[in-house]
Amino acid sequence: MSKTRIAIIGTGGIAGAHVNSYLRMKDVEVIGGADIVKGKARAFLDSFDLKDAKDYPSAREMLDALKPDAVSVTTYNSTHAECTVEALRHGCHVLLEKPMTVTLNEALAIRKAEKAAGKIVTVGFQPRYDVRMQKIKEVIQSGALGKIYYVQTGGGRFRGIPGGTFIEKQYAGVGALADIGCYGLDMALNAIGYPRPLTVSASSFDYFGKSKKYNSPKDAARFSVDDFCGAFIRLEGGITLDFRMSWAMHMDTTGATIFLGTDGGLKVEPSSPGHPWGGAWDGSCGPVTLFHDYLGTPTHTPIPLPEPKEDNFYLKCRAFVDAVVKGKSAPIPTSEIIYNQAIIDGIIRSSASGREVSVEFTED
Ligand SMILES: NC(=O)c1ccc[n+]([C@@H]2O[C@H](COP(=O)([O-])OP(=O)(O)OC[C@H]3O[C@@H](n4cnc5c(N)ncnc54)[C@H](O)[C@@H]3O)[C@@H](O)[C@H]2O)c1
Repeated sequence: MSKTRIAIIGTGGIAGAHVNSYLRMKDVEVIGGADIVKGKARAFLDSFDLKDAKDYPSAREMLDALKPDAVSVTTYNSTHAECTVEALRHGCHVLLEKPMTVTLNEALAIRKAEKAAGKIVTVGFQPRYDVRMQKIKEVIQSGALGKIYYVQTGGGRFRGIPGGTFIEKQYAGVGALADIGCYGLDMALNAIGYPRPLTVSASSFDYFGKSKKYNSPKDAARFSVDDFCGAFIRLEGGITLDFRMSWAMHMDTTGATIFLGTDGGLKVEPSSPGHPWGGAWDGSCGPVTLFHDYLGTPTHTPIPLPEPKEDNFYLKCRAFVDAVVKGKSAPIPTSEIIYNQAIIDGIIRSSASGREVSVEFTED
């Protein structure tokens, strides 16, 4: 059996979860790692006892030398685009960590390179593989809600500002909005079939991140991204999306996720305060209830949820490898995630200008 040869670009925190998943697969070989920090890739590979895997100080040198079939791009957000485009130019399939990019233009550059290379880019939203999230999508896609016209979603951490490269604009580009906001957007948009965004009106804040009371003095001094945002987004098909995302706030939750339709409504309650569906990195959620009419009487029906049996992170890596091996299309395609990125871009622009902005872009 010939193995799929995979290399890792960016050997930081989350790269370990990729390698752990690949090491479970008999049809995959992890052949190398690249990181711009001297010695980091070698130490990373050694920590997995991957003595035969080669280390490199740059993605380009690794791609030139190893010519992998596929790569995981696990760099911080601001270098997602350059590393993904480089890998595509070297003929590799890409599993790209979320968020897709920082800017919409970077995401469009990936789309262009992907089409030119004829390879796949799948974006690493592991909640998509959670059976609870799949059940929620199944209920919505069954048509039980009729025409959906309003969605409210968001995620709220009471206190949960990360550190490391997540809080500086030069590395992360965006804060809570992109770090966990992209998950919330993906959950809601995926459930309703990823309609195109049309306009965005938003506000972003950084009161907690910059505060020495709520953040360490060192991190407060370098904090240069958002810690909370709220947005009102008009989507194609007459749907409005009301969205909030928080790394920190004086509140336990930004509320349940609700889908309102002409024939029914679906309520997805938070799994626990601070980790509602949409703000966690799995599909965990509290009770899910369908509100509807029964013979003229408003009523509600609890939706039984399945229990996850497999690690969602493994499933996302496995789905990527399956697509590569079987020549299938990307499991989480950039044709959808470009809309996620366009909303993030719209939220950034609207917050900066203090006005509603339109979301307009064309692809070659
Ligand atoms: N899916 C998830 O559950 C999950 C969880 C955490 C992080 N992430 C995402 O994964 C990405 C990485 O997060 P992290 O916590 O591992 O960050 P990190 O800062 O720990 O690691 C990033 C690594 O990439 C390296 N790097 C940056 N630019 C590079 C380049 N051009 N070439 C080679 N190496 C480069 C850095 O030196 C660093 O070692 C982020 O986009 C983050 O949003 C996803």
